[in-house]
Amino acid sequence: MVEVLYSESDLKKVVTELAAAIAVDFKGKSVLLLGLLKGCQPFLADLCRELSCHQIDLAVDYLQVSSYVGTASSGKVAIKQIAADDSFCQQRNVIVVDDIFDTGLTLKEVVSWVLENGAAQVKSCVLLSKSGCNRTEMTPDYCGLEIPAAFVVGYGLDYNEKYRELPYIKILTENE
Ligand code: XMP
Repeated sequence: MVEVLYSESDLKKVVTELAAAIAVDFKGKSVLLLGLLKGCQPFLADLCRELSCHQIDLAVDYLQVSSYVGTASSGKVAIKQIAADDSFCQQRNVIVVDDIFDTGLTLKEVVSWVLENGAAQVKSCVLLSKSGCNRTEMTPDYCGLEIPAAFVVGYGLDYNEKYRELPYIKILTENE
C-alpha cells in the first residue's frame, strides 16, 4: 500500500486554483515563468496548461538550482543559468516557480538573483510549503498546500533522482 499525501486529482485542483490566483494579478500582462530544475517540471507544465485558459502572454525559462544533499538542505544554494541570453529577465514580470518551499533559502537566493538581473518585478509560486521550516523573512506569493515537515517525493520531487515520475505526492518512508 502506498501512503499518498496528495492524489493526482488533489494536485490538479490545487494547480487550477494557483493559476486562477495568478490570473487575477496578471491578466492582460506578459509573464515569464521561471522554473527551478529539476523538481518544478510536472508542476510547471500543468500550471502552464491551466494558465492557457487565462489571458496572459506567457513565456517559460529555467534555472538549474541545487541545495539539497539526500533529505536535508546543505544551506548553500547553487544557481546555474540555462538560458543562452544574459538579459532574459530584463524588464520582465517574472514568477519563480518551484516545487517546494522548505527553509526558503533557495527562493530567497533566486528572487535576489532575478532582481539583480533586471526584472521589472518578481513573484514566487510554489506547490508545497513545509510548516515551521522557513529560515528566511520571505514567504511565497502563491502557495498551493502547507505540508508537515516531512520529506516528500513524487510529481517532480525526488530522493536521489528517484520517484519524480509518480503522479501523486507521498511521504518518503525509512525503508525506501
Ligand atoms: P529550501 O530549503 O531551499 O529547499 O527552501 C527548496 C529545495 O529543496 C528541495 N526540497 C525537497 N525535495 N522533497 C524533495 O524531493 C522534499 O521534501 C524537499 N524539501 C526541499 C527542493 O529541490 C526544493 O527546490
